[in-house]
Amino acid sequence: MREQELIATARMMVAEGKGLLAMDESTPTCNKRFEKVGIPQNEQTRHSYRELIVTTPGLGEFISGVILYDETIRQSGAYGIPFVKTIIGAGIIPGIKVDIGAKDMAGHPGEKITEGLDGLRDRLTEYSQMGARFAKWRAVVAIGDDIPSWGCIKANAQALARYAALCQEAGLVPVVEPEVLMDGEHTLKRCCEVTKEVLRTVFNELYTQRVMLEGIILKPNMALPGLACPMQETVDEVADATVRCLMRTVPAAVPGITFLSGGQSAELASARLNAMNARFKSRLPWALSFSFARAIQQPALEIWRGKEANVSEAQQALIHRAMCNSAARRGQYKAEMECT
Ligand code: 13P
Repeated sequence: MREQELIATARMMVAEGKGLLAMDESTPTCNKRFEKVGIPQNEQTRHSYRELIVTTPGLGEFISGVILYDETIRQSGAYGIPFVKTIIGAGIIPGIKVDIGAKDMAGHPGEKITEGLDGLRDRLTEYSQMGARFAKWRAVVAIGDDIPSWGCIKANAQALARYAALCQEAGLVPVVEPEVLMDGEHTLKRCCEVTKEVLRTVFNELYTQRVMLEGIILKPNMALPGLACPMQETVDEVADATVRCLMRTVPAAVPGITFLSGGQSAELASARLNAMNARFKSRLPWALSFSFARAIQQPALEIWRGKEANVSEAQQALIHRAMCNSAARRGQYKAEMECT
């Protein structure tokens, strides 16, 4: 294992003022997001959209790494320049989603298990040769009446750990993403209980599979009340609860935690990340940053709508969100930044 290289990459991924941009929607997910805003769903539009993102001027000032999807890492832009080359040229580290999706889990109604371990060693070698320096695997845990079950938590944690060990063997930093979903009526307290149990199980499995914690990035959910819960806590209460969950479960050896946005509005995601850094940064053992997809991309997607004439304005919206989240990562985000 190239330990020093993994450690250096992981640290660069959470460099001061920077975070990750997730643009790794699978083809069905990308198509669904296009459909919602009336964009035709085909390879050409997905290519144009991904090109819009990776050619956004100044992106590297706020974004340390981008997470690509298999289709995108193989594509090239203008003059046949591979996207990966454009990304590296912008001072950004290319990464790749390597799970093949969360599927219904046998014997566990309403729960999912993420697949993709078969053949993963060979795929990681190929992605590494294509220029990827880190990878991502997402497990999902739903909260409901009788769920999550121990079987679901355990199986997903073990898959995450086996993926992470293979990544480190291949010289790629694993982004370990156990997402406790926001859907439902559950309270913030319940989300905290589930998130803590999930994270404890994940770190037990990472230890069992001999994963070097200095060479991973954790990508968790924030601790949030369910979207349909009548009680919605304040930004500061969410920040307190999230930091408390993480302090109780995430070892200090981990260099950085980059949150997913999970369906929060772009502004709320920035405000909550900001509150965590503004209130706790000097006392935390790890960097707290972002790895948002929707909370960075959504405003840009809604402006673009598949029209060449809107590219520049969409890129401005994208860089604006990247800038706001960079400020939040420093604890310097202010609501007034949204009006500029
Ligand atoms: P969201 O920020 O839209 O939740 O996506 C992050 C991600 O990478 C999900 O796997």
